[in-house]
Amino acid sequence: MSAPIGVFDSGMGGLTVLRALMARLPRESFVYLGDTARLPYGTKSADTVRRYALQASSALVARGVKMVVVACNTASISLPALKTALDPLPVIGVIEPGAQAALAAAPQGPIAIIATEGTVKGGAYRSAIRALGSNVPIAQQACSLFVPMTEEGLIDGPIVEAVIHRYLDPLLATVPKPKCLLLGCTHYPVLKPVLARLAGSDVVLVDSAITTADAVAALLKARDMASAGGSHTLKFLATDAPDRFARVGEIFLGQPIDPGLVELIDLQS
Ligand code: DGL
Repeated sequence: MSAPIGVFDSGMGGLTVLRALMARLPRESFVYLGDTARLPYGTKSADTVRRYALQASSALVARGVKMVVVACNTASISLPALKTALDPLPVIGVIEPGAQAALAAAPQGPIAIIATEGTVKGGAYRSAIRALGSNVPIAQQACSLFVPMTEEGLIDGPIVEAVIHRYLDPLLATVPKPKCLLLGCTHYPVLKPVLARLAGSDVVLVDSAITTADAVAALLKARDMASAGGSHTLKFLATDAPDRFARVGEIFLGQPIDPGLVELIDLQS
């Protein structure tokens, strides 16, 4: 019960999910792994992403985590493989919670999804929305520059606006105009203020962070795995440039990261 919850992403994007987890579950300890040496995952093949995701979750298991949260939409393609490999440890992804959030915001649609190339190609959101029994119209757009841009700490200003226009304008020009913009990549919530302004007030923005935190809380309760309280810890693992992780990660986590809490690890040995 007192063991930490493991959370991973290709880089710092998953910190937007960790932020929601920490707010929802203040008594829990967390170990966050950012595979910064191999980012981005979104432009890599499914086989490569699956291999990376298995290595990342094994590293978390070696740290004694009680469950794994895949805070990366792209890596969610590996959920079945991860569940088999880590059984009986619970594994939770962000796609299903994101699909639920989008349908709650716009039950009749249309829903516009922005995500990495890998997530769009894999069609994970479309499948998750259909699996929830909905036939809403769906439009999708891969936004490959958003991840490198935000990992640079670029979240507003003229360059960011130009890049957003490039991807969003054709998507929002579809008729009828989407009612909901689903941020299908955990890096994107840091762009929310600019995305919201450029999308217009008639479009609701949703992401998976809060609904994922709710799903984790429900699972801990159902399996009687929640921490009873007492002391809790926060630790970060990065596969490259831990100082940079602490510096830029602050934007995603919404609070300063003590560089002393970020450990450099190697997933390939
Ligand atoms: N943050 C990840 C996601 O949610 C992936 C970013 C990337 O490495 O391309 O899809």
